[in-house]
Amino acid sequence: MEYFERIKINRILLKDEIPVDSEIILLGWARTVRVSKNVAFIEINDGSCSGNLQAVISNPDQFPSLKNILTGAAIRIKGKLIASPAKGQKYELAVTELDLLGPADETYPLQKKRHSFEFLRDIAHLRMRTNTFGAVNRIRSKIAYAVHKFFQERGFYYLHTPMITTSDAEGAGEVFRVTTFDLKNIPAKEGKIDYNEDFFGVEAFLTVSGQLEAEIGALALGDVYTFGPTFRSENSNTSRHASEFWMIEPEMAFCDLAGNARIATEFIKYLFKYALDECADEMDFFNKWIDKTAIETLEFVIKSEFEHITYTEAIKILEASKEPFEFPVAWGSDIQTEHERYLAEKKFNKPVIITDYPKKIKAFYMRVNDDGKTVGAMDLLVPKIGEIIGGSQREERFDVLKAHMEEKGMDISLYDWYFDLRKYGSAPHSGFGLGFDRLLMYITGMSNIRDTSPFPRVPRWAKF
Ligand code: 4AD
Ligand code: MG
Repeated sequence: MEYFERIKINRILLKDEIPVDSEIILLGWARTVRVSKNVAFIEINDGSCSGNLQAVISNPDQFPSLKNILTGAAIRIKGKLIASPAKGQKYELAVTELDLLGPADETYPLQKKRHSFEFLRDIAHLRMRTNTFGAVNRIRSKIAYAVHKFFQERGFYYLHTPMITTSDAEGAGEVFRVTTFDLKNIPAKEGKIDYNEDFFGVEAFLTVSGQLEAEIGALALGDVYTFGPTFRSENSNTSRHASEFWMIEPEMAFCDLAGNARIATEFIKYLFKYALDECADEMDFFNKWIDKTAIETLEFVIKSEFEHITYTEAIKILEASKEPFEFPVAWGSDIQTEHERYLAEKKFNKPVIITDYPKKIKAFYMRVNDDGKTVGAMDLLVPKIGEIIGGSQREERFDVLKAHMEEKGMDISLYDWYFDLRKYGSAPHSGFGLGFDRLLMYITGMSNIRDTSPFPRVPRWAKF
């Protein structure tokens, strides 16, 4: 056996692949160490699953390295896998070799006691070693895989859209600039910033969405999806907003709003089922320690028929509700999180898809309905979080798009390529965006987006 030829603990504890009496090597970190005169126990975790394996040392005197192994140390253990006589664990390891690879002293911040999530955010370089953040980041990886699986199984192509862009897709002005200007000496011409002198020769930003480029892909490859980081400088310091978050954006040619809603529904249910079927270790953990209804919530959504209502119907329901909302309800104003939660939690108690929002409050690319006042938008709201998906049918008619953009006061000269898509072989098409970090909040029951992203970026916080 080579020195680092190890067995990962998930193969032992979760997959039951390693027979009793096997000689194996474990590599990982000591979670707890208990030493007495005649016996010592080390709980080792190697990051492959939430469970630890208990290593038993029956002759502590013969392991001089033992006294230097404290909580947090990186260790190598060789021994024989045996059926554990102790309650609550199936296996343990009878140790024959023990090496300290990297010590940790008493100042290691993750001692046995429980830590607040706020405290752990400050030490995001260590928090992934805790049970909670280990589980969050493992399930994050698995669900990311499920996202690809869902679309690849359905013939979608994965499109890499740019992170640096010159267009603000959502038109909300919540962009971060990309520039190499010396901020103390910004070139100007006729009293204005001279972007011609900047790196790209134009004003450039970090993307808020890959949608506009995904439309290019859909009108060539048929069905595409993006899955990458997006950036928004909105200064909303809420538990559901991050300044950098990952978004999944499918875009489908020859698809209308009803087809769009159908795919969104199938997608959400697929991901939740994947979490229950393929991430049982993590889901059991969340259900026990984070949210006692975590599993039940996912099962419920999978079974439920999503409610479909129009924006106009939603406003009527909210007006009739007599709830003491902070933000007033009126046709034409945006539906706020408190309203979304009322609809998804109190009124329908299940996911709700709201369609056909007023043109004025939605982005320029949404397809104008026959009434001239509303657009083919759709938001999917879920209990506890509110909006998790935003999407629409896109405006495929050249003249209507142009008029709509002019009405919004946009500089249409920046969008010649977007108009070309309407000029050459334009086709009805639709898509949506799912916020990945927000989705993970829903799946795990973690109540702050700062805890589902491994390295969250929020106003005044960009450490690591
Ligand atoms: O509703 P949004 O702004 O839609 C778009 O960006 C469209 N271009 C999508 C499309 O049609 N292709 O954002 C989509 C989703 C939201 O529903 C939410 O889940 C998530 O992205 N999201 C955020 N997540 C975390 N932090 C933020 N600041 C977010 N802003 C949006
Ligand atoms: Mg939205």
